[in-house]
Amino acid sequence: MIPTREGSDVHERVTAPLERELDALRADGLYRWLRQIEGAQGPRMRVDGRDTIVLAGSDYLGLASHPRLKEAARRAIDRYGCSASAARLVSGNHDLYPQLENRLARFKQTEAALVFSTGYQANLGVISALMDSQDIAFSDELNHASIIDGCRLSGAQVKVFPHNDLAALESLLQREASARRKLIVVDGLYSMDGDLAPLADIVGLAERYGCMTMVDDSHGTGVLGEAGRGTAEATGVLGRIDIETGSLAKALGGFGAYVVGSRTLIEYLINRARSFIFSCAMPPAVLATVLEALAVAEEEPERRQRLWDNTRYLRAGLREAGFHLNQSATHIIPLMVGENRLTMRFCQELLEHGVFAQGIRYPSVPRGTERIRLTLTASHSKEDLDLALTVLGEAGRALALI
Ligand SMILES: Cc1ncc(COP(=O)(O)O)c(C=O)c1O
Repeated sequence: MIPTREGSDVHERVTAPLERELDALRADGLYRWLRQIEGAQGPRMRVDGRDTIVLAGSDYLGLASHPRLKEAARRAIDRYGCSASAARLVSGNHDLYPQLENRLARFKQTEAALVFSTGYQANLGVISALMDSQDIAFSDELNHASIIDGCRLSGAQVKVFPHNDLAALESLLQREASARRKLIVVDGLYSMDGDLAPLADIVGLAERYGCMTMVDDSHGTGVLGEAGRGTAEATGVLGRIDIETGSLAKALGGFGAYVVGSRTLIEYLINRARSFIFSCAMPPAVLATVLEALAVAEEEPERRQRLWDNTRYLRAGLREAGFHLNQSATHIIPLMVGENRLTMRFCQELLEHGVFAQGIRYPSVPRGTERIRLTLTASHSKEDLDLALTVLGEAGRALALI
């Protein structure tokens, strides 16, 4: 929008009310802005004009700049062009889709898969397709925003249970016996806390109380479990989750999202999920990239090993420095601060000394649990981690957080 003059009609109707809201966000320490990055995704990047070690992305296996993925994208562009041009039900199903969906279904050991254009759309589309006002969703309080929004959009009754609290979940299930459909929906690996959902117990409860299970495994896919199949594999319930979704823009270094489950579920979603039906298909190059990422993740299991080695190393260093790591058990490590402004001061202090780690505030996390969120990749070197530990320790001490 063009700048508007104070006192003008547009200013009074549109600009001034928005400015007042932005001022309120600033006053609460909740204002957000975009940081400028330069260069390819990797463990070191320029951020806001500074050379930094990056502990902020989700490129967990270091695949986003892998030569094989880049080559696959280039080949696909040469062969197919840059755009899918319309939704799949309108302009046709590109031959890379069945290839990718069959591969994803094999990887997750389910009957079928469906690719959506983003993880946000997948969660929104699946929940709103399956549930309506006759139904009840049982949702963990720390679920990702896209699950919360999917529940809201569906019109279902939503029963939020305290994080990973199985006793609370069970007492809700006992109380809510009658509904057309019941869905227990959780993240597999919690994106801001780094802990896992107790999926074996959740599947047990779902079976006992006649519910469907849905797991968003955006952060576990490619990383957790013997073969990187995700949280279900790591917790021994591979093949027992009714619906699993996940972003392909994290460990798999691409873009888009999957839904896996039964053939009937996928057929149903093609007919009912509005964020699938009414949105353009992904560009072919992205499909080719993710197909290659799945091959590389399988052929280079040492990437998962390096991620775990880095995780153990950084966690030990952080503990030694005096940080409390909460319930995190993985490569996602929250450093709790508990206040907006102090969180962003911590973030800025780190950036000025060469570490990019994002400050996380409400509504990404509940108020009072503001934090710096550290994420690791297989591409970080020991030197990167040592430097990061020095900077984190100094900033933590300077702000009296340790
Ligand atoms: C747990 C979780 N679910 C869903 C999403 C959304 O995925 P996408 O970025 O592909 O829309 C994200 C992150 O972005 C996430 O962290």
